[in-house]
Amino acid sequence: MSSVSSIESIPESSSSESLMTLEQFIIDRHEKFSHATGSFARLIRDVSVAAKIINHNIRRAGILDVRGETGTVNVQDERQKKLDWIADRELERALRKGGECCLVGSEEQPETIPLDPNREAKERYAVFFDPLDGSSNTDVNASVGTIFSVYTLPEHVQPDDAMDVVLRPGREQVAAGYVAYGSSTMFVFTTGDGVNGFTLDPSIGEFMLSHPDLKIPDEGRMYSINEADIEDFSPELRSFLSWLKKKDSETGARIRARYIGSFVSDFHRNLLTGGLYMYPSTADHPQGKLRLMYEANPMAFLVEQAGGRATNGHQRILDIDPTELHERTPLYIGSPSLVERAGAFLEGRGSESSSANA
Ligand code: AHG
Ligand code: MN
Ligand code: MN
Repeated sequence: MSSVSSIESIPESSSSESLMTLEQFIIDRHEKFSHATGSFARLIRDVSVAAKIINHNIRRAGILDVRGETGTVNVQDERQKKLDWIADRELERALRKGGECCLVGSEEQPETIPLDPNREAKERYAVFFDPLDGSSNTDVNASVGTIFSVYTLPEHVQPDDAMDVVLRPGREQVAAGYVAYGSSTMFVFTTGDGVNGFTLDPSIGEFMLSHPDLKIPDEGRMYSINEADIEDFSPELRSFLSWLKKKDSETGARIRARYIGSFVSDFHRNLLTGGLYMYPSTADHPQGKLRLMYEANPMAFLVEQAGGRATNGHQRILDIDPTELHERTPLYIGSPSLVERAGAFLEGRGSESSSANA
């Protein structure tokens, strides 16, 4: 019969049994979700169910017939990938079946979609999402993501006339998150009380708390921008990029460039290691490429909760008043020192001679 000491010496199981599931976390933190009744917990569960189904399709893209294009062009005037369509369908289906959400707005749908206009519930949620971010990566086995943003609908609003009401500044979000389908699949979200990351354990089909209370490093050693567009960049932005590439006068270290083609993946890496993601105005996208309601706003909410910053180069993203569902915005998001420095250059206050530590 083994003694107590030998039992105590048994290490925690290497699998995730010693960690908390997403559902346990939400129940455990229930009272911290300012607006939450059980319906918010069920809403997050519904999004996580869709994430698992999307993950199942992505991880088998070469086996299932889900690669390539649908043959249609979406409202963004972009050729839609099959996985765009599948991710969009699974998110809408999970939120419709879950019954907690009464309106969705998707990158892949021209208008918002009322899900349950007759629902007389205390909490009524509107969810905006980019069902599959980084679509150009789907057929080449590179990382992609899903992004979601949650608002509560004012009591008096009927979902079918909600368009003008529900397009609220990002500071009014009650939750936001993303799923990163990378070397592992992670679910990262905030409800305004910090940022927590969960890793999918495929052996039990649960998202397990693996990255509690994430904070972005103030300094960043990586920057993400598509420099193929450099001829379109303003002189101020080009001056900032020159400054960014200087060797550190003390350590001789130089920042690294990383641009994956999926905002979620670049954002997630920068959140963990420190860094800056930029998508400025370009000739093809004079207002920037990323969409305010379901890319910039949710990630701005997350990054601020993690101690970072997000601007359009001049204004805080979360303070922008939206005017339409698919409007785009230039975006500078990540470590606070880099976002602030970019803003200084873009407003003509930056100097290439200043050292990285100035
Ligand atoms: P989406 O696939 O949802 O359209 O988003 C793609 C975005 C973003 O994820 C990525 O960083 C950027 O587009 C890449 O754009 P470029 O190819 O113009 O660099
Ligand atoms: Mn996207
Ligand atoms: Mn997309």
